[in-house]
Amino acid sequence: MSNYHIKHLEEYYKVYRKSIREPELFWEEIAEEHFVWRKRWDKVLSWDFSKPEVKWYEGAKLNITENCIDRHLRINADKTAILFEPNDPDEPAQHITYQQLSEKVNRFANVLKKKGIGKGDRVCIYLPMIPELAVSVLACARIGAIHSVVFAGFSSTALSTRINDSDCKIVITSDGSLRGTKTIDLKSIVDEALEKCACVSTVLVAKRIDTDIHMKEGRDEWLQPLLDKASVECEPEIMDAEDPLFILYTSGSTGTPKGMVHTTAGYMVYTAYTFKNVFQYRDNDIYWCTADIGWITGHSYIIYGPLANGATTVMFEGVPNYPDCGRFWEVVEKHKVNQFYTAPTAIRALAKETVEFVNKYDLSSLKVLGSVGEPINEEAWHWYNDNVGKKKSPLVDTWWQTETGGIMISPIPYVTPTIPTYASLPLPGIQPALMGENNEELQGNQVEGKLCIKYPWPSMARTVWGNHERYKETYFSAYDNVYFTGDGALRNAVGYYRITGRVDDVIIVSGHNLGTAPIEDAINEHPAVAESAIVGFPHDVKGNALYGYVILKEVGADRNHDNLRKEINQIITEHIGPIAKLDKIQFTNGLPKTRSGKIMRRILRKIAGNDISNLGDTSTLLNPEVVQEIKENVV
Ligand code: WTA
Repeated sequence: MSNYHIKHLEEYYKVYRKSIREPELFWEEIAEEHFVWRKRWDKVLSWDFSKPEVKWYEGAKLNITENCIDRHLRINADKTAILFEPNDPDEPAQHITYQQLSEKVNRFANVLKKKGIGKGDRVCIYLPMIPELAVSVLACARIGAIHSVVFAGFSSTALSTRINDSDCKIVITSDGSLRGTKTIDLKSIVDEALEKCACVSTVLVAKRIDTDIHMKEGRDEWLQPLLDKASVECEPEIMDAEDPLFILYTSGSTGTPKGMVHTTAGYMVYTAYTFKNVFQYRDNDIYWCTADIGWITGHSYIIYGPLANGATTVMFEGVPNYPDCGRFWEVVEKHKVNQFYTAPTAIRALAKETVEFVNKYDLSSLKVLGSVGEPINEEAWHWYNDNVGKKKSPLVDTWWQTETGGIMISPIPYVTPTIPTYASLPLPGIQPALMGENNEELQGNQVEGKLCIKYPWPSMARTVWGNHERYKETYFSAYDNVYFTGDGALRNAVGYYRITGRVDDVIIVSGHNLGTAPIEDAINEHPAVAESAIVGFPHDVKGNALYGYVILKEVGADRNHDNLRKEINQIITEHIGPIAKLDKIQFTNGLPKTRSGKIMRRILRKIAGNDISNLGDTSTLLNPEVVQEIKENVV
């Protein structure tokens, strides 16, 4: 029996039980057998959730790029590591072999070194889905610099906040990005952001769209000529197991985004292990995850997990509906993709189109389908399973988070029988708990509560960059001695988990986590706005869309509301990005509040979702009359 690759259900249960009974032995054996270490660990795990402090493989020394690249060169140098599929279907795909990837990463690492970047320095990467993105991430890891990738759809304000929060010395960007028919001028977004970032002394610019852009003397440099001059040899920096590998920002329900810090060894072991099992990856498979590397899914399951297994990982620059809604399936046919991993929002958007877009292509290569990012509703599950998977490729609904680093609850294809909308069973090493109203752990099956994890796993985020207190407060204070996920879940009669959605003020829109507070803060900057409250409401493509209740300063003033709506969305776009725009805005004279002054979001959510039959008891509100007004003016 192999602990590393689970192939049968009995094996899963056996491995799972072992991982719970002897977690240290379990993770020790996996680490020993499947990775390259420069020095062995002294201790597999030490932990204390009350601090909270967690350390895996303490004392070990390694470099993750030796595991993701160098060790494959002996027998797989000519195997494709990254298969780049450009936005334009007429532009040829690029097959970057492990040998070429090694050279590219080393050159890039040498360029970074020349710019004075070394171990522990923070590097901001703001790039579209082009090979330079994956290469720059790995180049940072090669020299021990901490990468902070910012999704290239974020605005200049969001970018500058993230750059300043982790004090990045350098920004890597491109002259622009191609998304369907659109060209986006990324460099000018960076220029604007950097007006507020004194910490950045260098900007390296990759060429993608070939237009004239402004290059600031002494700060900005084209990347390619520097790479051409750099050596293809670069010794890896030897890292401690617990040295930070990267920072990735995620929205919280309050305040600025949290820079989740992931460390080296545990993250490597867990993402590699889960990649192998959840996708049942076999040696010559072609694996494709459609996420952007700007999110955790791209970090763990486009770059690190697949490459640590010597896989071929597809990187797609484009969008699902360009040149038409058959693009995903055209790419599956073209590259004979075996595992396909995407988000429910993409599935729902494509399911609205004629199924001819799917049926036109030969999808017989597919063996596994995956879903991630939000609950997948039953209709979308069946559409995906029937039309794409032809009812023969298992569909794995994978639940996890930026904070967890890797997939936590998921079926293992060909092993775990699937049930639509259920993420099913915890992966080995993961100990979920559902907490009840009185902070007690709910025992047995057929219970619903708040989802927590009660034992450490190797890829958990170790802290919030620069703010350990916030880490403790957000994840370890709701309940004693367990990690709180922010999600609700139920456990059915056979012990399967179904995630029911966020239980805090994070709203998932098209798979993107958005905190309500930062959006409200942005809106409140509009000179006409006194106060606002944002809630989510069900949307058939995005999963949730945003609904804003806005109180204006001048009561009863003659305002041109549609213009104001545009201005409010403009402010949100500038502060956060277009992904956070509101679908609906209702101007109101008041917001329902408790006597202690807290906005009753439950009521606002129900009204926005057109579910007004049962608003509960509103008599205890400070201002019950406003509920009637809001109900009457719903948009
Ligand atoms: C939600 C994405 C239901 C959940 C990897 C979680 C899901 C948040 C699923 C994390 C799923 C993710 N079913 N909900 N399969 N996967 N979520 O940090 O609310 O971008 O807490 O990480 O997405 O989003 P994040």
